[in-house]
Amino acid sequence: MTNLQIFLDIATEAALAAGVVLQDYFGKLEGAIIEKGRPGDLVTAADKASEKLILEVLHCHLPEHSILAEESGKLGNQDNEYLWAIDPLDGTTNYAHQYPCFAVSIGLLINGVPQVGVIYDPFHDELFRAAAGLGATRNRRPITVSQTAELSKSLLTTGFAYDRRETSDNNYAEFCHLTHLTQGVRRGGSASLDLAYVACGRVDGYWERGIAPWDIAAGVILLQEAGGKITAYDGTPFKIESGRILATNSHLHDSLSDALMQVPPLSTW
Ligand code: IPD
Ligand code: CA
Ligand code: CA
Repeated sequence: MTNLQIFLDIATEAALAAGVVLQDYFGKLEGAIIEKGRPGDLVTAADKASEKLILEVLHCHLPEHSILAEESGKLGNQDNEYLWAIDPLDGTTNYAHQYPCFAVSIGLLINGVPQVGVIYDPFHDELFRAAAGLGATRNRRPITVSQTAELSKSLLTTGFAYDRRETSDNNYAEFCHLTHLTQGVRRGGSASLDLAYVACGRVDGYWERGIAPWDIAAGVILLQEAGGKITAYDGTPFKIESGRILATNSHLHDSLSDALMQVPPLSTW
């Protein structure tokens, strides 16, 4: 077995265990939901319990690896060749409202590049997995992106970061523009599932700003292994620390990039 396969199986063990925790807490939080800082940026007992379990599994198997986890922050040397980016509950707002669109997302960056990813949606029991050169799967069956090549025939997804009330760079104008040009733009509320849905062809593209490495590390390698393309909005190489991502089935990439570079002002709508 290759190292990547071993890391993929460890990440899967952690994600499935964390998924059980999320299912156990679902609908039972009763007031145990607090705002972390910005309005609407929530954390729950489920986020914390899920993350604790993931950290235990990774530490047990791979004590020499470092971690960047949403709730615990930086653990170990962040320049380590092996850095795990962990979102123990991606879609916390949905989860707190019992809207069943959330996931565990566990990605491994090797020298800063996403190489292994596991995204687990426990409510629908959907397990997305990928590793560089090993392909992408949904519930252990291979997945590929859609063939849609025209914006007018596409369905897209996006999201709005928690700083959206504090900046005019809040994705509202982009959302209106792409809603006009396509068959629709969805706002699922879970960035990792947005990427997983592009990877398995349910949607044709996804873009977002204000996004953290733990939201997308797993989804990036999943989508690349499923035949998709990931860049900055303007088509230049993707940088995970930039907080911006344009992710498509590849066929739609240039058109969506062009549309994002030519967004009319919000007052137009
Ligand atoms: C959020 C979700 C959402 C995205 C936000 C993220 P959280 O993660 O992925 O879809 O629009 O930018 O912060 O807070 O639910 O883990
Ligand atoms: Ca997240
Ligand atoms: Ca989260």
